[in-house]
Amino acid sequence: MSFKPLRKAVFPVAGLGTRFLPATKAMPKEMLTVVDKPLIQYAVEEALEAGIEQIIFVTGRGKGALEDHFDVSFELEATMRARGKSMAAIDGIRQKPGSPVYVRQQEPLGLGHAVWCARDIVGDEPFAIILPDELMVGAPGFMAQMVKEYQRLGGNFIGALEVPAEETDKYGIITPGAIDGRVTEVKAVVEKPAKGTAASNLMTPGRYILQPEVMRILDNPVTGAGGEIQLTDAMAQLIGKQPFHGYTFDGQRFDCGDKAGYVQANLALALARDDIGPAVREFARGLLN
Ligand code: G1P
Repeated sequence: MSFKPLRKAVFPVAGLGTRFLPATKAMPKEMLTVVDKPLIQYAVEEALEAGIEQIIFVTGRGKGALEDHFDVSFELEATMRARGKSMAAIDGIRQKPGSPVYVRQQEPLGLGHAVWCARDIVGDEPFAIILPDELMVGAPGFMAQMVKEYQRLGGNFIGALEVPAEETDKYGIITPGAIDGRVTEVKAVVEKPAKGTAASNLMTPGRYILQPEVMRILDNPVTGAGGEIQLTDAMAQLIGKQPFHGYTFDGQRFDCGDKAGYVQANLALALARDDIGPAVREFARGLLN
């Protein structure tokens, strides 16, 4: 089967990052590094690997470092070149002319509202959404795995990962239907269900491939969990009208919106590196003994 190709990805990056203060007082939380790479770069690389051509950032005040990160760094590059230094670490970060596109979310009204701010750039095409504070490590990456299934089945896809039952009130939770390998039919989604009311322990971990009709639902937003306009509520309205699939990623998830998850990501990715892994491993062993 063939479906409209997936070319665009939306990155909601307007959030204030209050959970990481003071680190994020003057720096976007998406610039927090795991080892030596900012979270946003992991997210963009995941999208590019999946064949995405147009990167769309939904940004806000104080997020200028994100724009600079994907641009030319003239002084840095000129100086490195003059000194004969290797450019390998910054090769390929700068995107093709005209990408990324930046749109502003003027007020923090929720994830649904942030995504809706990109409606004119998304247009009448399917689009991906990646939440950069969910770091997904796998080969291929989460989005590439999900795109493969999208090309087979079409419709809408959302990530579906198991979490412990006591954490279901923190996430969008799926009511699962038929299961086919890593693909699960999504019968309903609820944003942050109250403790003890979750339909399952399958959460949506910030990876989506959605059809553009979701934007028409967000044209008339409703206030949901936490007093915010929730993407989950808009998706819920599409279920039944369009196919909705959950995809269970083959790889590792780090919740870098959480301090413990962020430290775990740094440790795991440092240990996996050839250059610093051995030194970190030896230090960690000593620390734990
Ligand atoms: C958002 C989404 C939620 C999703 C979560 C993943 O919640 O609204 O559905 O499960 O990201 O991290 P937030 O973390 O912004 O509260």
